[in-house]
Amino acid sequence: MDAFSAAQPLRSHKVKSLTGTVRVPGDKSMSHRALILGTLARGTTRISGLLEGEDVLATAEAMRQYGAMITRRDDGIWTVDGVGVGALLEPSDVIDCGNAGTGVRLIMGMAAAYPFSSTFTGDGSLRKRPMKRVLDPLEEMGAQVIARDGGLLPLTLRGNDVPLPITYTVPMPSAQVKSAVLLAALSTEGTTTVIEPIPTRDHSERMIAGFGGDLTVEAGEDGSRIITVKGGKPLTGQDVTIPADPSSAAFPIVAALIAPDANVVVQNVMLNPTRTGLITTLQEMGADLTLTNRRTEGGEELADITAKSSQLNGTTVPADRAPSMIDEYPVLAMAAAFAEGQTRMPGLHELRVKESDRLAAVVDGLTANGVETESGEDWLTVTGNPGAVPGGGTVITHLDHRIAMAFLVMGFASRNPVTVDDGRVIATSFPAFEGLMTDLGGRFTRLSNHG
Ligand code: S3P
Repeated sequence: MDAFSAAQPLRSHKVKSLTGTVRVPGDKSMSHRALILGTLARGTTRISGLLEGEDVLATAEAMRQYGAMITRRDDGIWTVDGVGVGALLEPSDVIDCGNAGTGVRLIMGMAAAYPFSSTFTGDGSLRKRPMKRVLDPLEEMGAQVIARDGGLLPLTLRGNDVPLPITYTVPMPSAQVKSAVLLAALSTEGTTTVIEPIPTRDHSERMIAGFGGDLTVEAGEDGSRIITVKGGKPLTGQDVTIPADPSSAAFPIVAALIAPDANVVVQNVMLNPTRTGLITTLQEMGADLTLTNRRTEGGEELADITAKSSQLNGTTVPADRAPSMIDEYPVLAMAAAFAEGQTRMPGLHELRVKESDRLAAVVDGLTANGVETESGEDWLTVTGNPGAVPGGGTVITHLDHRIAMAFLVMGFASRNPVTVDDGRVIATSFPAFEGLMTDLGGRFTRLSNHG
């Protein structure tokens, strides 16, 4: 997003119906990883379905700085000619990851095993997000870090001449922290072990193994996952197919559930079990969801998901489900606003450190639109009002794409239109959102920034 152009408020309006079949963009988590592993691999990686959103494009630009040749072919396939483990080049400019927490944290991991300096920065949102969680294990591996305020971007990281393999227990449920260590481990001689007490998305593990990395996963007696990487081994370029992002699919799906006369099919949605918490929760709330054409492609399960207008009931979402739906709470809160009764969401501490403080942003946005909430440091309760959500408010997005899309979804079914202060942030993960929702019957108005 161009930080110097003016904010573009966007408003959504109540729809008469929502119908059609759509494809949402490729998975953001897998897209970052495919570019990074393609860079660490020798030979050519061909990626189909790469998310062409700002976050991922920033990672592609960063990988060029480390020596990869990356091009987009006319048929939409991205090719990465990698440099190989041990052969990354020192970047000659600052690495600007824009809004992307996944991008910066994974790239820091990749770079931490090389005896050169990388300087990272990002936008106003990313510069507020905690990096210490990633820097701590990377420092244990021998990297040196100079960071603003001890752990904020911009920061400079320099890997050790001889990076050290470690055993690291990830202190919070974070796939980004786990992945940073795994990526550093690939270029570190010896065996690095990452213990994950609470399992999180496992795309790094699957993809590292797919690129020929020496990685094993075992179950600990206490239910933890023990991931072991033997580093210094070559990786080989692969053909990678990226399915549709379940976190993006969530927006048209929830829109269909709460809108009148809706029947929407979202095709090719990735159903990796570490990502399906929202689908489970919506089904428990009584959502009319049908999964068809279930298949496995490129090592991931996928399905087409049909969502129809539904009478939802409030529920309590188990706290231990949070890692499998962590990015979906904003849009779940919209479904909850249209459900009968209360929806209780405990275990939300990680929402405080996303692209925005998502718990606060959701509470403020719901309040501005006449929806009753209660919340604490790590929980949220929404009281639903089926058929009678007032809307009419303006939501501050705080540079957070998912806050923008969630509240625009609300506006398709609330009595009055819902306005978000800046629609540009959506380009982070889902540039086609407005067009795709319009094709289904969604209605938007673009306002001038005084509108
Ligand atoms: C991601 C992990 C999650 C998620 C983010 C993508 C990843 O973050 O919220 O959108 O691709 O590894 P945390 O690792 O901070 O939980």
